[in-house]
Amino acid sequence: MKSLVAVKALFLQLSSFFLIFVLLSFLSSTLQISFSVLHLLICHALCAALAAFLLRFDWWWVPIQFLFPLFAYFLSAFTIPPYIYFSILLMFTMLFWSTYRTQVPYYPSRSALLIPILELMEGMKSPRFIDVGSGLGGLLIKLADSRKDASFFGIEIAPLPWLLSHLRGRLLKSSVSFEFGDFYDLDFSDFDVIFCYLSPAAMPSIWAKVESEMAPGSIFLSYEFIVPFVDPDFSLQIESDGRYLYGWRI
Ligand SMILES: C[S@@+](CC[C@H](N)C(=O)[O-])C[C@H]1O[C@@H](n2cnc3c(N)ncnc32)[C@H](O)[C@@H]1O
Repeated sequence: MKSLVAVKALFLQLSSFFLIFVLLSFLSSTLQISFSVLHLLICHALCAALAAFLLRFDWWWVPIQFLFPLFAYFLSAFTIPPYIYFSILLMFTMLFWSTYRTQVPYYPSRSALLIPILELMEGMKSPRFIDVGSGLGGLLIKLADSRKDASFFGIEIAPLPWLLSHLRGRLLKSSVSFEFGDFYDLDFSDFDVIFCYLSPAAMPSIWAKVESEMAPGSIFLSYEFIVPFVDPDFSLQIESDGRYLYGWRI
């Protein structure tokens, strides 16, 4: 039911607005105090943020709940043509396409991962490597430049990152093959190394797929996020950011 969190967040905004509106209308009629729209929105923002905190939403929802009404208020002061809002909406939809369902937004990994991953593949003959949720494809393109005998694949569910990775690969004449789709539809036994940079919410389900499909001798890598209750076989600290690359030998 984690995917319902966005609906709950919207409900919190609407209900806190309604609550504060009723409360301030009551105060204004009984105590003869007048409130401006900004007063109303500040109280509403505080109420929504407090509710998100008390209802134990993930921490980032608290500032989002607080800032959203104020941001909307300040934007309304400018006359921005509707097509700008529409273009922004379209861009974010293409970028974060299935985030609501997958609970995995787009954010890039670091190029500091390159050397540790290449070192891990050192003893492997012509390995087949896939980045599941390949984003803009930067990591794969750099890996493919350094390891000519290996085959590199990416699969991405969000249209905009996939399109950009595909065009980027063609422009740079990279050997990486970028597929548009859901990695849950792949057969993981086709790969020797599977790399992911997803989110805590995605780890239990990808691990179930790894356990049932990956072949003995293959490696599953996850940057930053662990698999709950399954100790990794190794963890490498990525020097530039202090995060870890976790690995499981199957
Ligand atoms: C945090 S980004 C990582 C991008 C890239 N791997 C990197 O290291 O820079 C995670 C990406 O996974 C994609 N994603 C999430 N669930 C997916 C799924 N089931 N199938 C394919 N892609 C998925 C998201 O759209 C997002 O672009």
